[in-house]
Amino acid sequence: MRSIVMWTSKALAYALTAGLTLARSPVDPEGWEDGSDLHHFVTRPDLTAPRYTVAKYHPESIAPGYWFVAPYSSLYDQPSFNGRKEHISGQTGAHIYDADGNLVWSAASKYHNRNVFNLQPVNINETHRLSYHLAGSDSDDGYPKHSSQVFADSSYEEVGRINEASRGGPVDFHAFKVLPGAETALISSEWWDTGNLTQPDEQDPIERPILNAGFAEVKLNNPGEALFQWDAYKSGLGLEECYDEHGLNQKEGYWDYIHENSVDKDLQGDYYVSARHTNTIYKVSKEDGHIDWRLGGKQSDFKVLDPKLTFYWQHHVRVRSVNASHTVLTVFDNASEDQGRNSSIPESASAAKIILLDTINMEASLLRHYDRPNDGKSRKLGNVQQLNEGDIMQSSIFVDWAQQGHIAEYDSEGRMVLEAQFASPRMSTYRAYKFPWVGQPKEKPVCKLLPMNLALKGHDVATAFYVSWNGATEVSTWEFHGGDEMEEEDFETLGSTPKDGFETSLVVPGIAKYGYAVALDKDGKELGRSETMSLLPPLDKDLKPLSSITPGIRKLVEQSDDAAKPSGSSAQKEVATGGHNALVQLLLTIGTFAVYALAVFGVYSLVKIFLPFTGRWQRGYKPVRESKYSDEHVLESTGRDRPAEDVAYRMSTESYRPT
Ligand SMILES: *[C@@H]1O[C@H](CO)[C@@H](O)[C@H](O)[C@H]1NC(C)=O
Ligand SMILES: *[C@@H]1O[C@H](CO)[C@@H](O)[C@H](O)[C@H]1NC(C)=O
Ligand SMILES: *[C@@H]1O[C@H](CO)[C@@H](O)[C@H](O)[C@H]1NC(C)=O
Ligand SMILES: *[C@@H]1O[C@H](CO)[C@@H](O)[C@H](O)[C@H]1NC(C)=O
Ligand SMILES: *[C@@H]1O[C@H](CO)[C@@H](O)[C@H](O)[C@H]1NC(C)=O
Repeated sequence: MRSIVMWTSKALAYALTAGLTLARSPVDPEGWEDGSDLHHFVTRPDLTAPRYTVAKYHPESIAPGYWFVAPYSSLYDQPSFNGRKEHISGQTGAHIYDADGNLVWSAASKYHNRNVFNLQPVNINETHRLSYHLAGSDSDDGYPKHSSQVFADSSYEEVGRINEASRGGPVDFHAFKVLPGAETALISSEWWDTGNLTQPDEQDPIERPILNAGFAEVKLNNPGEALFQWDAYKSGLGLEECYDEHGLNQKEGYWDYIHENSVDKDLQGDYYVSARHTNTIYKVSKEDGHIDWRLGGKQSDFKVLDPKLTFYWQHHVRVRSVNASHTVLTVFDNASEDQGRNSSIPESASAAKIILLDTINMEASLLRHYDRPNDGKSRKLGNVQQLNEGDIMQSSIFVDWAQQGHIAEYDSEGRMVLEAQFASPRMSTYRAYKFPWVGQPKEKPVCKLLPMNLALKGHDVATAFYVSWNGATEVSTWEFHGGDEMEEEDFETLGSTPKDGFETSLVVPGIAKYGYAVALDKDGKELGRSETMSLLPPLDKDLKPLSSITPGIRKLVEQSDDAAKPSGSSAQKEVATGGHNALVQLLLTIGTFAVYALAVFGVYSLVKIFLPFTGRWQRGYKPVRESKYSDEHVLESTGRDRPAEDVAYRMSTESYRPT
């Protein structure tokens, strides 16, 4: 009887899955809609960070450090990708990965999947802080609706924010930079304004509503106080400089003629602004804000010695060195623009460029350029980071090619030493950085105990311990303790194993009804421990308690340098030696489970095929709420919802407060 049921359901399952495969392939050609491109953790089901695929070409030349990235599927946290609903809860926001692509920290659930930009550690008064832009949101998730620049300490607790109230105006996401010395920071800004357009064939200028841009250098401790403020239009950045044909011809609305996307300051005190829609980099004088020179665009002050230097729709301009005669800049040249703003500009591959400016003879030459590895175009994203201090030509550099989280590291000879990318195109990154980091989370490690019908070391059952500690960088070993009673003093040390990525697991023989995990650093010092957890799901009455098999267990674990990992090869080896009966029993159990799972999956898939509206019910994951904003809408309007008059500099009510 049992086998009839089994074979019937098996046949049913085959039929359903075959139908599903046929129907599904054109919809999901990459085959990642099942979540196989994401991390899944027993201990943290709320975190489904994108998995990286990593290629190390010259491992010996890779600089130490962690990757600081903030995956998003669209600039706003809406669950859409290529018209599909691919953004599921748990992978948007601030993330740290190690150099092997293992997840170290995810703040996706901390901020309810809100977008984060420009995540990086900063040194403030000799103290390491994390700094990131937390996007605004119209959801009632308990966080302020307006975007803000957040500071957190090495335990990931917030220690300060620069927000609308403390800044005295919207906090724009394009540019935020803590300046050396950490007393001040640069913040970009944009506001509605009016400007005069003078066209060659027209006598009188035409007044046009514009989106003006600028920046402020503010005090970190009192961001309402600006030490320097710049207004692009008033400083002579003319409407005629813009390359955007759409804007020129548009009849109504505000013309985004500048689109400022980065601001920097050199050690002599002058500023550098990158404007995407004028294809120009501006040097702004610290004295009175006048434009000292322009590089690129229609009014360039430089003779370009190498045509490969020319950039379009560029981004993330950084000044790397400056002296009386020369300036070295890095530019992320997007080289492409996704809205067809100027059809005469040829699209080529994106590139990172190191440019030498002779500011006496006004000549520009290209010191080095790095083409995007796959000749692709990075739209709206990307950055270049210098990894070593001093001369950039002697330094490694780190580039965010942005699409699909694509990052690459180059050594001082310009060789690509490392390349990594998310396993699927589900997510991109706006900027990515590499930095050393020590994370010591305030929250405790999370441990789970699962009973296993696994014969191990002569016992017919086993316990799988799983542990993770979101953000902890210093753990070297996990030690597991357990027992039959809640009383921790009766616990035994059941085993230990080196930390293995974000989540570490170990299978120990016998059943531990209760247990916890202890984090040890490389010297064996305890860093933290989880709560005492009880076995999940509730103890099966067929499973013998630990006490009935305890004699010798310590010896067993001590002998077992190869203490099993769940689903690892040593676990299977133990099963095999556990006896013929146990093996048959196990295979039957797995077989039955697989058949039922397939059948359920098949039915689900059929439902999905016939009712496309159910597409958002992704394998039990809760999609984040829909947003009324589209990607472009947000790019064009984030932080620009306030008329100019409002951007007065009020006194601080909330600011960066060191603790
Ligand atoms: C750094 O420390 C100095 C001296 O204690 C203090 O005056 C200053 O405000 C601090 N800066 C920041 C950004 O906290
Ligand atoms: C535009 O030009 C007119 C005439 O020269 C002038 O009166 C007006 O103030 C200008 N407007 C702006 C916004 O510069
Ligand atoms: C479009 O680009 C071409 C080539 O660089 C330039 O000559 C032209 O002025 C641009 N169009 C506008 C409206 O600026
Ligand atoms: C100025 O910088 C350039 C480029 O880095 C360098 O070649 C030159 O020697 C420097 N000049 C002086 C006087 O230091
Ligand atoms: C290039 O990337 C930057 C980064 O966001 C963006 O501001 C700029 O708009 C991008 N350019 C284009 C044409 O997409």
